[in-house]
Amino acid sequence: MNANRDRTAWLQGGQAHCQVGPQRQDRPHRLVLLGAPGVGKGTQAELLGERLGTCHLSTGDVFRAAKSLAEGERSPGLEAALEYMRKGELVPDSTVLELVRERVRCLRCPGGFLLDGFPRTVAQAEALEQLLAGERVALEAVLSYDLPLDEIVDRLSGRRTCGTCKAVWHVTARPPRVSGVCDHCAGQLYQREDDRPESIRVRMAAYTSSTAPLTEFYQRKNLLRTVPAHGSPEDIFQRTLAVLAV
Ligand code: AP5
Repeated sequence: MNANRDRTAWLQGGQAHCQVGPQRQDRPHRLVLLGAPGVGKGTQAELLGERLGTCHLSTGDVFRAAKSLAEGERSPGLEAALEYMRKGELVPDSTVLELVRERVRCLRCPGGFLLDGFPRTVAQAEALEQLLAGERVALEAVLSYDLPLDEIVDRLSGRRTCGTCKAVWHVTARPPRVSGVCDHCAGQLYQREDDRPESIRVRMAAYTSSTAPLTEFYQRKNLLRTVPAHGSPEDIFQRTLAVLAV
């Protein structure tokens, strides 16, 4: 398995270890990806991970991975989180922070990290600052992907996700070679529950009220790098590399 595809430590937390060690970097990249649901953060994280050898740490993927646990194995907090997610609402900060704290060693991984979907509120961003200070690492930049909300809905409705390695495809913009089958691991692709129109509306509202203010938070810290998110995934990837000067 490619090192930046093995995210066992992040997805399972606790004592779980990645089977493939990180690709050591001279200058590990430590980045946050911000942007509305469906703007393409996960897609860019995958492309960046391949190029920079950096691991994709998505809080949404952790919640989705928890769905495959037997009911008795899920904590009450996790059960509640899955219900918030189904409706498109944000999971409470306390639950998200507990989950990230359990995985804090991923933040000091010598391969660096690409945080996707965390932080999502100012309280989470402040907690992340403290966690990073405790691990003696610093953020390099916060990439903010920018696209009008109505253009994003098309991306969400065509999204298909691999049930095994969580790679993200799109029925027209990024189709797999064989319909319904992941190119990377031959896993089955599925449509996410929260990509239904009623959940999409709730997710967009949560983004506008809770997550959009983070751009100002990171602007004040001089970490924000805005990337226009129109065009193909490859176009956006090239813009991202230019912004990072890599
Ligand atoms: P999460 O999994 O983080 O979802 P999200 O932020 O809603 O983002 P998405 O994964 O939907 O979109 P994306 O920007 O990654 O786009 P993608 O690359 O897939 O969170 C899900 C839920 O978990 C939340 O609603 C919440 O309940 C909970 N949660 C998670 N973290 C939390 C936190 N920190 N606090 C509280 N709650 C939390 O692309 C979308 C589609 O478009 C794909 O099909 C892709 O192939 C396609 N595409 C990508 N780029 C392009 C392009 N340039 N042109 C055309 N199509 C494209």
